[in-house]
Amino acid sequence: MCGIVGYTGARSAVDPLIEGLRRLEYRGYDSAGIALGTPTSLFIEKRAGKLANLESALSPNIPTVHSGISHTRWATHGGPTDRNAHPHVDNEGKLAVIHNGIIENYSELKAELESRGHSFSSDTDTESVAHLLSDLRKEHGGDLTQAMRAAVKLLRGSFTLLAVHADDPERIVGVRRNSPLVAGIGDGENFLASDVAAFIDYTKRAIELGQDEIITITPSSIEIIDLAGKAVAPREYEITWDAAAAQKGGFTHFMLKEIFEQPKAVADTLIGRLSDNDQILIDELHMTDAEIAALKKIVVIACGTAYHAGMVAKYAIEKWAKISVEVEIASEYRYRDPIVDSSTLVVAISQSGETMDTLMAVRHAKAAGARVLAICNTNSSTIPRESDAVIYTHAGPEIAVASTKALLTQIVAVYLLGLKLAQVRKELSDLEVKSIYHQMLELPAQIEQILETVEPLRELTRKFATSDTVLFLGRNVGYPVALEGALKLKELAYIHAEGFAGGELKHGPIALIDSVKQTPVIAILPAGHENALDEKMLSNIQEVKARGARVIVIAQEGDAVVGAEHIIRIPSGPALLQPILATVPLQVFAYEMAVARGNDVDQPRNLAKSVTVE
Ligand code: F6R
Repeated sequence: MCGIVGYTGARSAVDPLIEGLRRLEYRGYDSAGIALGTPTSLFIEKRAGKLANLESALSPNIPTVHSGISHTRWATHGGPTDRNAHPHVDNEGKLAVIHNGIIENYSELKAELESRGHSFSSDTDTESVAHLLSDLRKEHGGDLTQAMRAAVKLLRGSFTLLAVHADDPERIVGVRRNSPLVAGIGDGENFLASDVAAFIDYTKRAIELGQDEIITITPSSIEIIDLAGKAVAPREYEITWDAAAAQKGGFTHFMLKEIFEQPKAVADTLIGRLSDNDQILIDELHMTDAEIAALKKIVVIACGTAYHAGMVAKYAIEKWAKISVEVEIASEYRYRDPIVDSSTLVVAISQSGETMDTLMAVRHAKAAGARVLAICNTNSSTIPRESDAVIYTHAGPEIAVASTKALLTQIVAVYLLGLKLAQVRKELSDLEVKSIYHQMLELPAQIEQILETVEPLRELTRKFATSDTVLFLGRNVGYPVALEGALKLKELAYIHAEGFAGGELKHGPIALIDSVKQTPVIAILPAGHENALDEKMLSNIQEVKARGARVIVIAQEGDAVVGAEHIIRIPSGPALLQPILATVPLQVFAYEMAVARGNDVDQPRNLAKSVTVE
């Protein structure tokens, strides 16, 4: 939430600073700002609204300088106005700070700083850091790095901070606590950013930073120290993402591009997971067979869309591996007394690896003695770093705020985990595991098939663009799909949407069906005839239809459907794997509704992709 960039080198700094923000706008887009380090003073420009507003404010009078910091904001403390936009400066206007996160003790700091004569000009928590650093820098003989080290000891909360001072503008100092910061190593230039996407065009060499580590970059050096002032050896890694992956590549929106990237993302996440002797390979699990056999419970923690992947995990793992699985919304997890111990495997699912609610739940589970496995899409992010093990999904960078390809790869990862546990615990034979894995290998081509025939669905969606409520029904693994369909529609089309378990309908929600408005209902027909769930869903369809609903059904090829106004066919396959396919038309539905209603698809209102506050 908030994207930050720092640059020092030989180029005109405004280019990497603004381009970097464009790549990080997914993190927040309430305002944007820049501080450029001219030799005598700082040039600051900041504007409420999207990056484009800052860019048009900049164009006439932009100085050519070679270092600076820039920020795109998701507002927490203080509304999204020009004056609350970052950077924030000290009273001399010589020290600028940008911030991602929350300074919890900012009001105490502010009172103390005001009593020392500082005057404040914004409603943010961040401004107190600019004033604090200003005083501490003077106390430390003008050394901004030491000032930052002293400041961090006084701050509570979660933060990534970058600071620059006009007296030494080539030097940029940063720190992170519970919030992301990576460095990029260039040739005669260096970068700092919330995410490697900001500098991927310039370098593939990155350094990850640990908790409370303070980094100082100049064009020719990178130095890292810990809170005690001791030098820390840089942990360098190679960025494997391609710069082109962070571009739209001819699609009108990142979301559409990412929907169409799903066959590849699923294939990449699946590849190489079955050995020649039919064993599921997840070496990253770091668990012995004896430890897997001793597991008594799995707890999945996640937020939003990732939580829906967790719900699918419950159905798959309980069915295949016969281990009890609880799924919990991460923000609720640590505020009760969850029962976990060393026989519990906690699985934290997160695309970004930075979601604060999930991170806090991970810490809580670890402290209670559980082993934590992360399922994550972002290399070296905080959640995998703090977990005991990690399965990386291979979706590539997901830029659109609404998650699509990350979800499908998360579901693939939980299937692989379920198969591995089932195989080691001898609940499925090698032959059964092999057969399911081979059915999974067909998923990329099946998603492709759905996407090739998506045009009629896009047309159909436009007919529903003026609806003010859409309901989604699912049963079994179709239930999380229904929840996901509703979430996508809410966040993109800004309309009331709810997902229900089909059986729950008669216990209240059916009252939402309005015969005058002909409320649209999208029903996911369960695959196969296990427990006659398909027949029960067909009855639900009749029930809503009888009360005036217009019904769209998502059904596998060949399955009988009665009572639907429209049928969207998906390829047939095993019931448990159906979420991967049934989700795709719902993503397209939400996308098209947003376009038809003139909404900003990639950056829906009020949202941010990476939610690094609780
Ligand atoms: C919805 C969406 C969010 C995220 C949630 C968790 O489209 O993107 O609901 O799924 O904020 O984010 P991660 O997976 O990064 O932890």
